[in-house]
Amino acid sequence: MRTHLGLSTAFIVFAATFFGVQLRSSLAQDAPAPLSESATRGKAVFQEKCALCHNAETAEKKIGPGLKGFNARGTFTSDGSKVTDESLKKFIEAGKGMMPPFKDTLEPAKLQDVMDYVKTL
Ligand code: HEC
Repeated sequence: MRTHLGLSTAFIVFAATFFGVQLRSSLAQDAPAPLSESATRGKAVFQEKCALCHNAETAEKKIGPGLKGFNARGTFTSDGSKVTDESLKKFIEAGKGMMPPFKDTLEPAKLQDVMDYVKTL
C-alpha cells in the first residue's frame, strides 16, 4: 500500500512537472514580448485616437498606412525618411495630409506613451 501510494505520487509529480514545462515553453514561443508599462498605456491611447485610421495588427492601409512593421522598417512611407524618436514625435505632433496634428490634443505624457507603443509594432 505504502509503495503503491509512493509510486502514484511520484507519477503525479512527474506528470505535473512534465506538462508544466511543455506548457511554459509553448507559451513562451507563442506570446509576443510583453509591453512595457508606457507602451501598455500607449496602446489604449492608440485605440482611442489612432485606430480609426491605422491598423496596428497589419500593414494594410486604412485611412493611413497600417503600422505593423513600421518601426522595424525604420522609414516613413511618404518620403522614405528615417524614423527616430525625434522625427516620429514631430510627425505625430504636426500631422500630415489626412492625419490631424496632435500637438494640442495629446498631452506630452500620452504622446510619449503612444510612441512607445508604435515602436513595438
Ligand atoms: C484621421 C486619420 C488619422 C488619425 C486619427 C491618425 N492618423 Fe496617422 N496617418 C494618417 C495618414 C493619412 C497618414 C499618411 C500621411 C502621409 O504620409 O501623407 C498617417 C501616417 C502616420 C504615420 C507614418 C506611417 C508611415 O508609414 O509613414 C504614423 C507613425 C502615424 N500616422 C501615427 C499615428 C498615431 C500615433 C496616431 C494617433 C495619435 C495617428 N497616426 C492618428 C491618418 C491618421
